[in-house]
Amino acid sequence: MNQPVMGGVAALNVPAYIKHQKLINWVADIAALTKPASIYWCDGSEEEYDRLCQLMVDGGTMKRLNPAKRPNSYLAQSDPTDVARVEDRTYICSATKEQAGPTNNWMAPAEMRDTLHGLFDGCMAGRVLYVVPFSMGPLGSPIAHIGVELSDSPYVAVNMRIMTRMGKAVYDVLGTDGEFVPCVHSVGAPLAAGQKDVAWPCNPTKYIVHYPETREIWSYGSGYGGNALLGKKCFALRIASNMGYQEAQQGGTGWLAEHMLILGVESPEGKKHYVAAAFPSACGKTNFAMLIPPAGFDGWKVTTIGDDIAWIKPGADGRLYAINPEAGYFGVAPGTNEKTNFNCMASMKENTIFTNVALTDDGDVWWEGLTKEAPAHLIDWQGKDWTPASTGKAAHPNARFTVAATQNPVIDAAWDDPAGVPISAFIFGGRRSTTVPLVTEARNWTEGVYMAATMGSETTAAAAGQQGVVRRDPFAMLPFIGYNMSDYFQHWLDLGSKIGAAAPKIFCVNWFRTDADGKFVWPGFGDNMRVLKWMLERIEGKAGGVENLFGMTPSYEDINWNGSDFSAEQFAQITSVDKHAWIEELKLHTELFDKLAYHLPAELTDAKAALESKLAS
Ligand code: GTP
Ligand code: SPV
Ligand code: MN
Repeated sequence: MNQPVMGGVAALNVPAYIKHQKLINWVADIAALTKPASIYWCDGSEEEYDRLCQLMVDGGTMKRLNPAKRPNSYLAQSDPTDVARVEDRTYICSATKEQAGPTNNWMAPAEMRDTLHGLFDGCMAGRVLYVVPFSMGPLGSPIAHIGVELSDSPYVAVNMRIMTRMGKAVYDVLGTDGEFVPCVHSVGAPLAAGQKDVAWPCNPTKYIVHYPETREIWSYGSGYGGNALLGKKCFALRIASNMGYQEAQQGGTGWLAEHMLILGVESPEGKKHYVAAAFPSACGKTNFAMLIPPAGFDGWKVTTIGDDIAWIKPGADGRLYAINPEAGYFGVAPGTNEKTNFNCMASMKENTIFTNVALTDDGDVWWEGLTKEAPAHLIDWQGKDWTPASTGKAAHPNARFTVAATQNPVIDAAWDDPAGVPISAFIFGGRRSTTVPLVTEARNWTEGVYMAATMGSETTAAAAGQQGVVRRDPFAMLPFIGYNMSDYFQHWLDLGSKIGAAAPKIFCVNWFRTDADGKFVWPGFGDNMRVLKWMLERIEGKAGGVENLFGMTPSYEDINWNGSDFSAEQFAQITSVDKHAWIEELKLHTELFDKLAYHLPAELTDAKAALESKLAS
């Protein structure tokens, strides 16, 4: 590591392979502001990864798991106040408030710059500034975009190596003047001379800030997940959604950056489709993306392109093509087991970083839902002794694993094809214990956009704040849209018009209806294949359906029940559309539309009026 030079300014020590003066100047400027003890330029090598992990083991940030149980894997336990995304601290600082829209926090860019300047001044004292170059999308591909994250967290550096294409090769693509998104991250915990560090430094004051005009990201105070791994939600969703919109504003076709998994599904006859599905955080994307078809679906195969983010553009043939800009999965651990997601369990057999799960006595990991019976003794996510008699959870509900996509046994052969894969259907799904039926097919693009725009979902542990509260989460993008939500709706409608007949079908699903005892009625997981198969048959004009209030829905006979004992009564329970519940639901659509009145597309208010008149009749 570099030694600080006299006067407190760390030596830059730029590696000879970096020829990009603007980048070098920017690193120097940020170092002058944040005053780290030294600067380290990440090369992305395995040797470097191992070294940084060892550094964190020595410093108490991570524990090495038992190599016989979980080779080359680590457990990090975060500060109990730093466990999830902080939506109320996340800002879109566009030039005007209208450009950020009513669903985003906003502050005038100049005012925010002042605030952040104060916070970042000296914030890396006593720490190493890691320079983390990364590509979202295959290196050098025309659809990829490059970012450079400056972070004082080695945990961020090693996670970025798994989650993105990170390392030296990025500089070859950047050359002397290539474009990159500058991302500045600090845990906000400067160290005085001689001060001992804590295992998980962070700051109670947190800011996750985006400047869409200059395409910059500044994050302060948190070391966790989407707050700190800036390639993910900050770049690949908030900044990228804005880029895709701006491209259309400047006369291009425009593109989409969505909170979507992408999967391939192949029938026994060898017919293959790709679908993209948007579910809010912790609502089943990773699980759906790695689905194993149930017994009775012999010959059906599901393969993964991505589990969280999709970048989608029209191709030369007019169809929409999607890529996964990420290279790894930062997935929810609780609830994951050999039965619910076998492929996910296989993915994290080795080379995995676990965060906030529990530690077993034999040096492996455990979380709620991993096994039917909990071990007799554990060390919980906060480092305390835990037994089944303990009151708290052993793993935090938002405990996560970080693994490379290439460890997924059902990774799709085209997963990093720069051309992307053609999308046959979009699926939108919320977590709703009542009201919303299992599956509905929109009869046209506008109806589908309406369904996605008005989608509600119960909040989860993926974000700090109250859980289980139904809120509107348009397109599962409420926390991730980098511009005005109403303009985003218009962007979707416009794209639909541009691609016309090539537009994918749109479906709406809900796996989460509960019975009187609060239990999920639908078995979910692999059984979601039954719904997926119906969708594919609808696309090919082969399956029946009946009209409900808003679109087409299967009758019991339209679904393949091979190997299942799910009854027609149970099916009725999760597909029923209760008129009174929907009259109440429409009031929430009205509330949303009132809030989004500025630039709200007339097509959507018309769609709502049509629904209301149906409900009134
Ligand atoms: P983010 O990474 O936060 O964007 O979440 P995600 O949408 O990828 O969620 P994930 O697939 O990790 O699932 C989150 C939780 O939902 C886990 O506890 C799963 O076990 C549970 N889950 C996933 N699919 C289903 C399903 O079909 N039915 C039920 N009941 N639960 C599910
Ligand atoms: C989500 O919250 O939707 C995630 C996890 O995928 S995080 O990366 O923390 O945003
Ligand atoms: Mn997500």
